[in-house]
Parts: sequence; structure tokens; C-alpha cells
Amino acid sequence: MTYLEAVADFYTEVAETPDVGLCCVQSTPLKLPDLTVPLVMQEMNYGCGTTVHPAELGESPTVLYVGVGGGLEALQFSYFSRRPGAIIAVDPVDSMREAAVRNLKIAAEENEWFDPSFVEVKAGDAFAIPMPDESVDVVAQNCLFNIFEPEDLSKALSEAYRVLKPGGRLVMSDPISTREIPLHLQKDDRLRALCLSGALTYDKYTQRIIKSGFGQVEVRARRPYRLLDQKNYNLDEHLLLESLDTVSFKVPIAPDGACVFTGKMAVYAGAEQYFDDNAGHILQPGVPLAICDKTAGNLGKFDEIVITDSTWYYDGGGCC
Ligand SMILES: C[S@@+](CC[C@H](N)C(=O)[O-])C[C@H]1O[C@@H](n2cnc3c(N)ncnc32)[C@H](O)[C@@H]1O
Repeated sequence: MTYLEAVADFYTEVAETPDVGLCCVQSTPLKLPDLTVPLVMQEMNYGCGTTVHPAELGESPTVLYVGVGGGLEALQFSYFSRRPGAIIAVDPVDSMREAAVRNLKIAAEENEWFDPSFVEVKAGDAFAIPMPDESVDVVAQNCLFNIFEPEDLSKALSEAYRVLKPGGRLVMSDPISTREIPLHLQKDDRLRALCLSGALTYDKYTQRIIKSGFGQVEVRARRPYRLLDQKNYNLDEHLLLESLDTVSFKVPIAPDGACVFTGKMAVYAGAEQYFDDNAGHILQPGVPLAICDKTAGNLGKFDEIVITDSTWYYDGGGCC
């Protein structure tokens, strides 16, 4: 049996019998006016963070959701895109698709605004998305891509890139690992399916995204996910996994490399009226400017510029 077959078996199991708390992290559930999430969807929340960022969904985007689970995030996305077929959710596991369709029907009973036609649940998988090139505004996946072996992860990222319109966004939430996961755990297919042993380090994960063509990556959250303890996982020392929420943009990669925003800011502390790096960054004295990590590296070479630490939160935004 391949690891992907083991994954499919595992998700057949948890589609038929909800496994409460399987992947979730401690966070406040998204509460929106007139949105009721059916209990069964809450029980089947198999995500490890969130991919639904309300401030960015105002234009009723078409969303391709990979790995539907119980349909929770498909429902949340449809809150912002209330039209037939606006959300296309693919999953290769028959029982999971059946559960999602059932749950979405319950959601329609509990939410006046929602019609099940808003979410089209389709057979398909991350490596061959049944959608044309450049056809969607957003691709989202939560707690799935970490399961894939690295080369499969790159295939899935390339597929996401292919179906996104130029400028479109890949929104993801995945566990990452604070150090390399030892091989004996990586080879354990069940732990991999449980999102516990396929995670890459932060650097390897973000580099895979960039290698797939995404020119800008923004980190939206980074927090503790699970601890693999020394005794139970046969490790030299405890191993902390973190959950990472990111948004990656299908924009060209700059000649000097992609921009990864982790919440760093640059502040000019010099005596001039302003500082201009002649690369698009003008700093006013004492006023922080959000910068990507590449720019932080460049500006950090100047004594009169202070670079603040990563907050692990950046969403563009602006001043005032
Ligand atoms: C950890 S669950 C996450 C479900 C959902 N994203 C959530 O947040 O609740 C992984 C999901 O991916 C599906 N899946 C497994 N292998 C897949 C593949 N190769 N392509 C797409 N989906 C897959 C599983 O059936 C399951 O629905």
C-alpha cells in the first residue's frame, strides 16, 4: 500500500466516524453574523489553522478548495461568495465527499442565506485538479499538503499555481516542524495521515512554495501545533510542530528573489528628513514601514535603520 492509499483509508475512517480534535489548534472559531456552523461540521474540523481571511473575501472570489473534509471552510468561503459554483471543493475520498455534501445540506437548513449549490463538491485530487488553467481567484487547502512527501508537495503546489488566475492567492494552513522530522517517523504512514510526521521545516516549506513560482508569501499566523514527545515517538529530544498560515501570491518572482513577509518593520533613526533605498522603500524618521525579509536583510546593513522582529503576522494593510 502506498502512503497516499493509507491517507485515503484514514480519511475514509474519519469521514464515517468524526474524530473530534484530530488536527485543530486553539483559536477562536470564526464567528460571522447569520452564520451557523452545524455541529457535525465542527466535529469534523480537520484543519490546523484557518484559510478564511474575511478582509480579503469582499469581492466574491471563485475559490478552489482542495481536500474538503467535513465542508466547514467551504461553507465559510461561501458566506462571502453567495452564488452557484463559487466554491469548488475537490477530494479523492468518496466517503469524505459524501459527508461534506450531507453536512452542507444540514448547513442549508440552519442558514437562510446558504444554498448547497454555492459549493460544488467534486471528485479530484491535489495532483490533478479538475479545473482549467487560470480559472480561480483563490486556491485554499488546510492541513493537507503537509501530508505529502516533498516531491508530491511540489506537484500539488504547481497544480495550485496552474489553476490560479494571475495575481491569485494560494491560502494554506499546515503544520511545520521546528527541526527535521526523523526518518522513522516520516515513514510512518498513519502518523503522516494524522498530520504528525510529514511536516517540513519553515525554510523548506516556504522554499517549496517559491520554487513553484509564487513571488510573494505572507505569513498570517505561526503557533504551536503538537509536541512529539521523546518517549512516545522514540526521539532524542521532544520535537515541537507549529501550525503556519500563509497566503502566497501568483505574481512574478523579482530578479533578486521572492518576498516573504513575516511582520518585520524597518524604522529610520537617522538625522536626515527621510531615507530612500532607491529600491522603492522610503522611510520617514521614527515611522515603521512593513518590509519583506529580503528587504529586512538589505536595510539591516545600515546602522541608522532598526529592523523589528517577525511578528508572524502580515496582511498588507496600510497606515490609516
Ligand atoms: C486533514 S483533512 C483536512 C480537511 C479540511 N481541509 C478541514 O480543514 O477540515 C485532509 C482532507 O484532504 C483529503 N485528501 C486526502 N488526500 C487528498 C489528495 N491527494 N488530494 C486532495 N484531497 C485529499 C482528505 O480526504 C481530507 O478531506
